[in-house]
Amino acid sequence: MAANKKLMLLPGDGIGPEVVREARRVAEWMGKRRRASFEITEGLIGGAAFDAHGSPLSDETLAAAKAADAVLLGAVGGPKWNEVPYEKRPEAGLLRIRKEMDLFANLRPALVFSPLVGASSLKPELVSGLDIVIVRELVGGIYFGRPRGIETLPDGTRRGVNTQVYTTREIDRVARVGFELAMKRHRRLCSVDKANVMESGVLWREVVQQIGEDDFPEVELGHMYADNCAMQLVRNPKQFDVILTDNLFGDILSDCAAMLTGSLGMLPSASLGAPDPAGRRAALYEPVHGSAPDIAGRDLANPLATVLSFAMMLRYSFDMAEDAGLIEAAVERVLARGVRTADIMQPGMTKVSTRGMGEALIVELDRLAA
Ligand code: IPM
Ligand code: MG
Repeated sequence: MAANKKLMLLPGDGIGPEVVREARRVAEWMGKRRRASFEITEGLIGGAAFDAHGSPLSDETLAAAKAADAVLLGAVGGPKWNEVPYEKRPEAGLLRIRKEMDLFANLRPALVFSPLVGASSLKPELVSGLDIVIVRELVGGIYFGRPRGIETLPDGTRRGVNTQVYTTREIDRVARVGFELAMKRHRRLCSVDKANVMESGVLWREVVQQIGEDDFPEVELGHMYADNCAMQLVRNPKQFDVILTDNLFGDILSDCAAMLTGSLGMLPSASLGAPDPAGRRAALYEPVHGSAPDIAGRDLANPLATVLSFAMMLRYSFDMAEDAGLIEAAVERVLARGVRTADIMQPGMTKVSTRGMGEALIVELDRLAA
């Protein structure tokens, strides 16, 4: 039996608790049926934490997350907290945990499962077999830059300010994650910026180009402007292997890439810190989708993005690639059997609830492990 792996669950708001519950079920299955044992704890984040103690992320929860080997997060936010001041909003809790754990590299794969080709809004030939990864810088850029705020000018008009800022060190460390990932895949990296209008983009491009020339000559490196990249993603997404980009562009382009696969409900993500000398790295895994307040609590949400985020955890934090593959295979087979949550429902398929999808997965995992 492998040593206990400390797994912290932060279900959050909206559909978060429902989808994390199904991922927990898979984690417990892993504990019973495979050589893995997880010590699972839970905490509050987002609006749920704000309601409980007036802050979207308490210091205690943050400390527990830092002490865990990996964190699995559901989603944060909802209209209930619309009037809450900016620094206490649910989203502020998510930004804070990313920042405080220094999770600078956000990996967002967009993979089309073949049974879902028809669920994409793009033509099947454009998306079948699609397998790309966006590496998004996650703790810098305009979401964190200073100065920021809303001020009132002497003439009474108000001014909102945010600052896009990147240092060479910040660009360097995320770029290396992109290159290393490309080396393990098809060795193609497309770095995305707006160097035509932003100095931070000029610097981004220079640093990435230099790292490519010096340290990753085997990787075919290209550069693209962010607006063009958005267009290319819907025109011909299979031209990409790994896309490397900043926080803002990565936020936007990853929603776009996610939708190519048919549903935001399918897309996992990993947010990683720098490895320490022992090779351990802070890590938080979460579905790309949000808290979907409109369907929260109704057992309708698709838990697959969260389950696949747990699979990414096995691969990146626990070196359990085989078990990660098992989960991914179970997802593929459940979909091939026509089991669908509402978001990916197609004519002639069987519609199931969040729980129903979790149960179907366990049945398939049992079969695969038999
Ligand atoms: C995401 C989300 C978050 C972000 C929000 C909820 C703060 O959109 O993870 O992409 O902007 O990063
Ligand atoms: Mg987003």
